[in-house]
Amino acid sequence: MKIINSQSLLNYNTFKINITADLFVKIKSQSDIIKILENKNLKKTPKFILGGGSNTLFTKNISGLVIYNQIKGITIIKENKTTIDVAVGSGENWDDFVAWSTQRNLYGIENLSLIPGSVGAAPIQNIGAYGCEVKDVFTKLEAIDIQTGKKRVFKKNECLFKYRDSIFKNELKNKLIITNVFFQLKKTKSINLSYQVLKHKIQKLKLPNICSSDVRKMVIKIRNSKLPNPEEIGNAGSFFKNPIINQTKLNKLQINYPDIPYFKGDKIKVPAAWLIDKLNWKGYRNVTCGVYEKHALVLINHHNASGKDIVNLSKKIKESVCKKFNIKLEEEVYII
Ligand code: EPU
Repeated sequence: MKIINSQSLLNYNTFKINITADLFVKIKSQSDIIKILENKNLKKTPKFILGGGSNTLFTKNISGLVIYNQIKGITIIKENKTTIDVAVGSGENWDDFVAWSTQRNLYGIENLSLIPGSVGAAPIQNIGAYGCEVKDVFTKLEAIDIQTGKKRVFKKNECLFKYRDSIFKNELKNKLIITNVFFQLKKTKSINLSYQVLKHKIQKLKLPNICSSDVRKMVIKIRNSKLPNPEEIGNAGSFFKNPIINQTKLNKLQINYPDIPYFKGDKIKVPAAWLIDKLNWKGYRNVTCGVYEKHALVLINHHNASGKDIVNLSKKIKESVCKKFNIKLEEEVYII
């Protein structure tokens, strides 16, 4: 384990922001973490945990130690006729884990295919797509407390999962290093086609027998058709969360915008992309950054953008949405 001075994070964040970390270390195991936490020279150094860097927008150099999580491994803990419990190293790539599951004909995370980032980051913001959230298959996680160096276990009900939210984004933000995440997947067929676009596209295929890898293939196709590949264009997926509004607000909006799309679960959400799109931001571009031409919720680093350039653009979008619709957008991306 080598601690590097002055490391550029350009290749460690999908927005491709060129900032520097004073100190940088790759960790591969729990014992690496303990060594770092016990290192007297690093006791007072602020520590920042980095996974896939796919949901982070850096706006300044990091004065402190960036701990790059590379804890790997997928282990089957137990299984019966219908379910299988697995422990996954937090530094595993999320989509590699999804591919692992569909190759084995398991069910539960295929709708979450191609989401960039690491397994450890998945519960932090309760990643979700196409009618599925990580909380649906999550059972518990193990972490190390940065302050005490002690291992802590969090069961599902202790994680306070909500839409793109959990305890790890709030009270416990930057206080833990997640080491292993535990999931329960299904061995029996269980397809989730609650997301209409996915359902229609799958039905069109007229497959006699749909399995999880068919769903995975379709999700990948849909995502590739409207979300930019971070390896080609710097971005962090959805920049804002879909705002939650009440029925009165929806009724009011429907007077002027009878076609406004919305999702009704226990709460009402309107797509932030639709609000932004209505204000003609899609395809907008300035010298360094812009809004993706195929999806209004994705901000893009076109050319050497700084984190501040992207924040400035996001502020303009937020202001215009607030002015027009009286809705305050909240960032989904973690801004540092
Ligand atoms: N829409 C527009 N203009 C656009 C794009 C979308 O008007 O440019 C409208 C359309 O009416 C569309 C609706 O917005 O039907 C919803 O769009 P989409 O299906 O792409 O979903 P989303 O609500 O924009 C959310 C997640 C995505 C996830 C998709 C699919 C959030 C913040 N984003 O996007 O997650 O992939 O649903 O489930 O909840 C991410 O978190 O990075 C992410 C990409």
